[in-house]
Amino acid sequence: MTSILTLQGIHKTFEAGTPNENHVLKGIDLTMEKGDFITIIGGNGAGKSTFLNSIAGSLIVDEGKITIDGKDVTNLTANKRAGLVSRVFQDTRMGTASRLTIEENMAIADRRGKSFGFSVGVTNKQRQVFKEALKRLDLGLENRLTTEVGALSGGQRQALTLLMATLKEPKVLLLDEHTAALDPKTSDMVLGLTEEVIASQGLTALMITHDMEQAIHMGNRLLMMDNGRIVVDVSGEEKANLTVQHLLDLFKQKSGRALNDDALILG
Ligand SMILES: Nc1ncnc2c1ncn2[C@@H]1O[C@H](COP(=O)(O)OP(=O)(O)OP(=O)(O)O)[C@@H](O)[C@H]1O
Ligand SMILES: [Mg+2]
Repeated sequence: MTSILTLQGIHKTFEAGTPNENHVLKGIDLTMEKGDFITIIGGNGAGKSTFLNSIAGSLIVDEGKITIDGKDVTNLTANKRAGLVSRVFQDTRMGTASRLTIEENMAIADRRGKSFGFSVGVTNKQRQVFKEALKRLDLGLENRLTTEVGALSGGQRQALTLLMATLKEPKVLLLDEHTAALDPKTSDMVLGLTEEVIASQGLTALMITHDMEQAIHMGNRLLMMDNGRIVVDVSGEEKANLTVQHLLDLFKQKSGRALNDDALILG
């Protein structure tokens, strides 16, 4: 069986050869099978976002090899990986175009990885598909297809972004603290939706979070990153039995110090 995502010996250094040289990824190895849902925690600057960026192709790694669905993507740009990977960021404005309508945004998502250009024609057939998809959000957006996305609330917008990211099934879904900017209730709504979408489509996903309870209760595998390395990798029964205290202890044991994370939520 081919693994959906593999990373072997990944290294990334920023500003190499300058006094600010920063070796951020120090040999990352990871294999994910279809349907794996990984949560990632770690301190500030541990390299979590850089790790996801290297999968998305928004940065090219210095060393190592990355494959997605058996295809070597190591040196492909983010655009060239767009048919394989989709992502949702913390900033609710990043995944959608404010001045375009809901249906125009969805039409662009529907073409992801196919062609470039900014033609936003929407067919009646697409409209039906979009309406059905939007109904799943239960936010009434299916009746607002021609509303500009800029008029939506942060939570509505992030729910739409998630829907768009998964409209054309990606091989890998990347979530970088995608609910961190939302209020607790809206965050719960988007997280519930996240679980539902991932489970119903059997998606392979990685989600960065600062919330220890979220990291424990969501997904089937949990990674802790520290100083450019994966220091903890638990799954199955072991993950199901984790507690926040156990995780903090594990981090200390593996890294030799307490978890340093300004945004840490202990639950
Ligand atoms: N494009 C870049 N150019 C230079 N340095 C960068 C770049 N992106 C990240 N870094 C540096 O790499 C290190 C790791 O950053 P990264 O964003 O991956 O951390 P993180 O684990 O996501 O942290 P946080 O929890 O604060 O989001 C930091 O020191 C950061 O300043
Ligand atoms: Mg980050």
